[in-house]
Amino acid sequence: MNRFTISEQFFLDQASASASGGLSTVLNRLTLVARMLASEIMRAGFVGKLGYTGTSNVQDEEVRELDVISNDTTLQVFENMPMVAAIASEEMEDMHVLPGGEDGKYLIAIDPLDGSGNVDVAGQMGTIFGIYKRPATGKPVTIEEFYQPGRNLVAAGYVLYGPCTMMVYTAGGPVNGFTLDRSIGTFFLTHPNLKIPEGTGAYSINEANEPKWDDKTRAMVETFRRQEADVGKRSARYAGALVGDFHRTLLKGGIYMYPGEVAKPNGKLRLLYENAPLGFICERAGGAASNGEIPILDVVPTGLHQRTPLFLGSKGDVEEAVRRMGKA
Ligand code: F6P
Ligand code: MN
Repeated sequence: MNRFTISEQFFLDQASASASGGLSTVLNRLTLVARMLASEIMRAGFVGKLGYTGTSNVQDEEVRELDVISNDTTLQVFENMPMVAAIASEEMEDMHVLPGGEDGKYLIAIDPLDGSGNVDVAGQMGTIFGIYKRPATGKPVTIEEFYQPGRNLVAAGYVLYGPCTMMVYTAGGPVNGFTLDRSIGTFFLTHPNLKIPEGTGAYSINEANEPKWDDKTRAMVETFRRQEADVGKRSARYAGALVGDFHRTLLKGGIYMYPGEVAKPNGKLRLLYENAPLGFICERAGGAASNGEIPILDVVPTGLHQRTPLFLGSKGDVEEAVRRMGKA
């Protein structure tokens, strides 16, 4: 294992990508969020925090206590951090403008606790984040400033809370993976320069949704299930947490799919804080990300919680899925 910490690696990435100042501070704060949430998740069962709050969020999903804790933790950690102007989160209908952040140059889009359906089964969960630069307007931040395509991301990453806690990020250069040494509370570089393998891995999709798909989607998934896709033999794997499914796909290759449905053509997953950041990481690792028609990174958001279909993973697999859907 390389004994580089996240901050040291990030300074190197910054130097090579000549990213602008302050980003490493933002990233280090995100590692603090990750460490705090890893600890909350580990203890949640002991202290009775596995349940629901009894309310629904803007997405009409039932809110878990840990969802609220994760969102509050994120906001607290970025409080009084003037380089971040505003945060858009899965758990908040509107953006949260940070006190003192009027002149901040970054915007953060975050899914603080991805896969919270796994809370009470000790399954994988995650945090997904994307960092955008604010346009230099000289005016108070507006919601439209978040409506940037994923190509504009200056950094994106995710944290995986599983048997170990990992953080994977890219600042536009290499994709690097770090593992948390819990005993000293520090992330060390364990997976430098990640590249997604081609021609191997699983296909990952919630196949119970089949009755809701159109014929093209059904036929496309069937080619993977029946091992008829050109990409070769595929096992089925589905963790039910996007971060968990993507992390496996990034390391082992294959494809993750959350297609549109006849009644919900945009599917389930959200562009700003799920699809775009993971698409950015995947492309930088040599893979691909599509909404079934165009690269995810070219989709321009029109709302904070906008959904898009998602096809994410090894380049050949994503190209084949899109081709078989007859949309490319
Ligand atoms: O954030 C949405 C999410 O929880 C993802 O983490 C996960 O991949 C997906 O929903 C699971 O959705 P479904 O239960 O419909 O398969
Ligand atoms: Mn999520």
